[in-house]
Amino acid sequence: MEEAKKRVGEYAASYVEDGMVVGLGTGSTAYWFIEEVGRRFQAGELANILTVSTSDRSSEQARRLGLPLKEIDDVNHIDLLVDGADETTRQFAGIKGGGGALLHEKIIAEQSDKIIWIMDESKLVNQLGKFPLPVEVVRFGSWKVYDAFASAGMKPSFRKVDGDKLFITDSGNYIIDLHLEEIPNPQVLAAEIKAKVGVVEHGLFLDYADIILVAQADGEIIKIERSNTTN
Ligand code: A5P
Repeated sequence: MEEAKKRVGEYAASYVEDGMVVGLGTGSTAYWFIEEVGRRFQAGELANILTVSTSDRSSEQARRLGLPLKEIDDVNHIDLLVDGADETTRQFAGIKGGGGALLHEKIIAEQSDKIIWIMDESKLVNQLGKFPLPVEVVRFGSWKVYDAFASAGMKPSFRKVDGDKLFITDSGNYIIDLHLEEIPNPQVLAAEIKAKVGVVEHGLFLDYADIILVAQADGEIIKIERSNTTN
């Protein structure tokens, strides 16, 4: 699994051209993309790129590699964002936020001209929902939002770290994970969740990615493109 993540992360870095503003995703697959961009930058191949990060974690990595890092508000667009995902269909409906960075990931995605998702084949599914859907909520009144999800049968749980500590996002919010098992209509669910007061954002990313790169166990990388949803 780790080898597949590394392979697809490094491969995705070949899409980066000098002079681009590059969005850096978050997670264990995006990690390898950032490492390879860093290597190419240090080798002088990408001397004129700028980067924008989707999380404090990826910002730290970018700084360690010496990459020129900008704030989202200091660039007027992003040429290419490469990010991971927790689940995706071939129809470009995905779940993100397993690492808790969904809000910043979506803000960066909104500003990106082209988006590539990278993953191993375990993430490619026919229907979303086995992976718990992360929802970022403001701390104030978060138990009321939790109760509303529970009443709607959405099986919520607060995201925890280090035993019983509540996970806090880079924007200072909590995450409630919805254990839905099946999401037959992501668009309807996305609208329903977003309409709840106290919800900041959810991890349904519908029609964001332009290309999905999937590293298979046999060593191949499958490319799913928006214009051509077969291999
Ligand atoms: C971070 O919040 C997530 O959206 C990640 O992009 C996603 O969880 C994929 O992470 P991995 O590559 O570590 O599986």
